[in-house]
Amino acid sequence: MDNFPPGFAHYPHYFDASQQNALILAVKSGVEQAPFFVPRMPRTGTPMSVVLSNFGALGWVSDKDKGYRYDPVHPTTGKPWPAMPELLLDLWDNVTGYEAQPECCLINWYKDGAKMGAHIDNDEQDTRAPVVSVSLGDPAMFRMGGPKRGGPTQGLKLFSGDVVVMAGESRFCYHSVSKVFYGESALVPRGGRINLTLRRVALP
Ligand code: SIN
Ligand code: FE2
Repeated sequence: MDNFPPGFAHYPHYFDASQQNALILAVKSGVEQAPFFVPRMPRTGTPMSVVLSNFGALGWVSDKDKGYRYDPVHPTTGKPWPAMPELLLDLWDNVTGYEAQPECCLINWYKDGAKMGAHIDNDEQDTRAPVVSVSLGDPAMFRMGGPKRGGPTQGLKLFSGDVVVMAGESRFCYHSVSKVFYGESALVPRGGRINLTLRRVALP
């Protein structure tokens, strides 16, 4: 992690096994109300390889016609997203100390072969707020680049229970998930990796 951009932090095994189980149970009950959906790329409609759901007042969604955005309701049920678990609000307070709470927790489920292409999180109005992410289940190779697409990247293997914070300069750097080590963890009931990403959307 020596040359990671300023503002990047990694907390290995922030959540212990019982907290990881509690988070998986929260996801399980959340997706009963707000089922995983397949996000599609703006314009082309190409499906992404992860499936998504959300907790909180605002959910991150994407489809062919309207593209990336935050929406207070689920794209197919039309219902509000389930409430943000308390454990995640506590995490946010502990690692960010930020003045306002996150309205969104995106739930990314990486099944066998899923990855995430290089991107910067920039659909939020409040880009001063850090982005906080939690890894659950199978390990993954997270890659961090710089503020320009296509520059050199550095890898960091993330394990279940790990937390990553992107604040400061790192908040504006390209990052991706190049590989999931599928089948190495038994935590996720239907297999794979769950990533929970907490974001503050509106200006406080
Ligand atoms: C993301 O940056 O959107 C996801 C990161 C991860 O899955 O660890
Ligand atoms: Fe991201």
